[in-house]
Amino acid sequence: MKTMKISDLLIVILPLFFTITAQSSPSPPHFVKSIRKYSTNDTTPQQYFEVTHPLPTDDITPACSVSLLNHSFGNTYGSPPVSVNYTPPDAACKWFVAVLEFRAECKGEQYDRIAGVWIDGVELLRTSTAQPTEDGIFWKVRKDVTRYSSIISQSNLTLTVMLENLVNDEFTGVYHVNISLLLYSDNAVGFPLSIVPGKSERHSLNRKLISVKNHEIGDKLDRDRDRALKSLLCPYTKLADLVVPISASGGLSDGFWFRIQDEFDLQTKNIQISNKTYKAVLELYVSFHGDDEFWYMNPSDLYVETNHLTTGRGHGAYREVLVTIDGKLVGAVVPFPVIFTGGINPLFWDPVVSIGAFNLPSYDIDFTPFLGLLLDNKNHSIGIQIADGISFWLVDANLHLWFDHSDVKAESVKSKVPSMEIERKSEFIRLDGEFEIEGERESEVTGWVYSSTGYLKTELTEKIKFKNKLKFKDEGTKKELVQKYKRKTKIKITNEDGELVESLEVKIKYPLKISTETKPGSDADTSVMTTKVELERSEKLYGDKDSMVLSHKQNCTGLMVVKGSSVLSGSADNHQNYDYSDGFGCYSRMVDVVDGNVVRNDTSSVCV
Ligand SMILES: *[C@@H]1O[C@H](CO)[C@@H](O)[C@H](O)[C@H]1NC(C)=O
Ligand SMILES: *[C@@H]1O[C@H](CO)[C@@H](O)[C@H](O)[C@H]1NC(C)=O
Ligand SMILES: *[C@@H]1O[C@H](CO)[C@@H](O)[C@H](O)[C@H]1NC(C)=O
Ligand SMILES: *[C@@H]1O[C@H](CO)[C@@H](O)[C@H](O)[C@H]1NC(C)=O
Ligand SMILES: *[C@@H]1O[C@H](CO)[C@@H](O)[C@H](O)[C@H]1NC(C)=O
Ligand SMILES: *[C@@H]1O[C@H](CO)[C@@H](O)[C@H](O)[C@H]1NC(C)=O
Ligand SMILES: *[C@@H]1O[C@H](CO)[C@@H](O)[C@H](O)[C@H]1NC(C)=O
Ligand SMILES: *[C@@H]1O[C@H](CO)[C@@H](O)[C@H](O)[C@H]1NC(C)=O
Repeated sequence: MKTMKISDLLIVILPLFFTITAQSSPSPPHFVKSIRKYSTNDTTPQQYFEVTHPLPTDDITPACSVSLLNHSFGNTYGSPPVSVNYTPPDAACKWFVAVLEFRAECKGEQYDRIAGVWIDGVELLRTSTAQPTEDGIFWKVRKDVTRYSSIISQSNLTLTVMLENLVNDEFTGVYHVNISLLLYSDNAVGFPLSIVPGKSERHSLNRKLISVKNHEIGDKLDRDRDRALKSLLCPYTKLADLVVPISASGGLSDGFWFRIQDEFDLQTKNIQISNKTYKAVLELYVSFHGDDEFWYMNPSDLYVETNHLTTGRGHGAYREVLVTIDGKLVGAVVPFPVIFTGGINPLFWDPVVSIGAFNLPSYDIDFTPFLGLLLDNKNHSIGIQIADGISFWLVDANLHLWFDHSDVKAESVKSKVPSMEIERKSEFIRLDGEFEIEGERESEVTGWVYSSTGYLKTELTEKIKFKNKLKFKDEGTKKELVQKYKRKTKIKITNEDGELVESLEVKIKYPLKISTETKPGSDADTSVMTTKVELERSEKLYGDKDSMVLSHKQNCTGLMVVKGSSVLSGSADNHQNYDYSDGFGCYSRMVDVVDGNVVRNDTSSVCV
């Protein structure tokens, strides 16, 4: 991700000062794809895409749609984000599923950029841009934003979009963005669908991926169509009554994300929540940039200092987003390694982008067992920090709250969320060596809530394992990374008689392997880089009645000739396997891209 700092201004304006050699850059630098699209005579703009599941509403005509913003992000660096008045469609438009559509187009040469969309400081979408070509590119992101209904249905709010871009003689790409909201009603699908509160409304992690098109659920529709559709079209059995932004107060001038510069940079927001709250989920939005864009490949500070490297990319390769309530650690997340379209080898991401690049994942932390700390009609400080972080991270959060009709009592009985226990090994001679980091955490949290539905105790246990192994060989010109991250969360909700009301298990794995090798090129100042990336996003959710399994794998190999931060030529292939299933169906997609051409794009809804 092209960063937004003074030093970047220098990189862009004075590219000569930015020379990359294997020696000065221990972790992979950020590139711009300076080549014309592979030798075809087709000059029509090309569509870029992220491999994902279609939304179940994709085939339905929206009951109404609202155009929220048409804007061209030219030389926006240093300017406030774009803010416009937000008012939902008139009351005559009855809707129950909301989808945000973000369309963009760009032509010329440009770095990839990070962008965010907020309504009154509540983040709805974190996205990044693809790098354009001379002939132009365009893409579309659709995201189900129904979980933000309490915000979307309010009037007289402010929609804010931040996309910092730099345009000059060399980097000419202007990002044209259109954002709209598509609202779907139950009438459109022909069934009366009401969201009835029931046992399952107490889903502690209030998120479930959905993927199957209406027609693909076929027989199941007849058998159990109401339940199936309800669950498919609206993954949240009961929506939050309020979403409170935990974001920067100067959002209208600098964007609502907190810009976190180092590990001591604790960003906080004071909030007071209603004593009617019986359930709370904190949703984190995270992206990493600058010296931490490839944090998972950063060697130790000692390596950087001993070898007198000028890079800022150090501080080891462990990072975690830490969340605190009044200074006490309540949750932590190792973010999924989203690779932006200038990352590792920009030829990989043409026209298919890396997992999550157009729709960055957000991370839910169950706050329900901590309600005992919050329900006292007093202000509390919610804090966000990056363990071992260096400059810079863009982070904010939304606190989703559910209200009872009368006061709720709550107590936090146990809250053991320790810091990650970390072991580090580092061995190097000059530029070659090995760095190993292993971390583990076991958390146990218990809290009860007494509301109009009675006494409910939530017990949460979580195990996290993190391992990062980085090897530098051949005078630092060969780099190999193997990273593993596993998280297993179990949530058990019981009533006053100790009977199980609901249980949920979430298993997450984000394995990542990267290798790069740099050799001198045939022309002066050029080098040839061989690059490989293997990455998976694996998320499994098992509830009492529902289950969801997602595995999205990507495997890329390529070669490129680079000069400075520009890619002059090369070849690359990208293979992606997307497999999703839940109680209602399956969806899988296989995409193979070779040198920018989609040679395979198979989808199937057959469950194996
Ligand atoms: C592009 O057009 C030129 C001139 O018409 C032709 O010679 C060439 O074969 C074309 N290239 C491709 C890849 O179609
Ligand atoms: C965006 O452009 C379309 C097409 O011209 C127009 O219908 C729509 O009202 C515009 N939206 C905004 C928010 O100006
Ligand atoms: C945005 O809307 C305008 C019409 O207002 C249209 O010309 C343009 O192509 C749209 N851009 C994208 C990226 O959809
Ligand atoms: C929105 O603001 C306008 C102007 O301040 C006001 O006239 C209108 O009543 C407000 N609408 C709502 C629903 O609050
Ligand atoms: C409590 O927090 C709110 C913001 O949510 C702030 O306006 C108010 O001044 C705070 N009160 C105290 C006593 O700190
Ligand atoms: C709950 O909040 C309301 C409004 O702030 C307050 O009047 C009431 O006393 C509170 N109840 C308890 C039990 O603290
Ligand atoms: C990735 O692709 C390479 C070459 O296409 C292949 O050799 C390797 O086995 C693949 N790895 C995985 C995990 O699919
Ligand atoms: C790939 O297949 C999907 C589903 O059939 C289709 O919507 C999409 O347009 C195709 N994409 C490309 C690049 O061919």
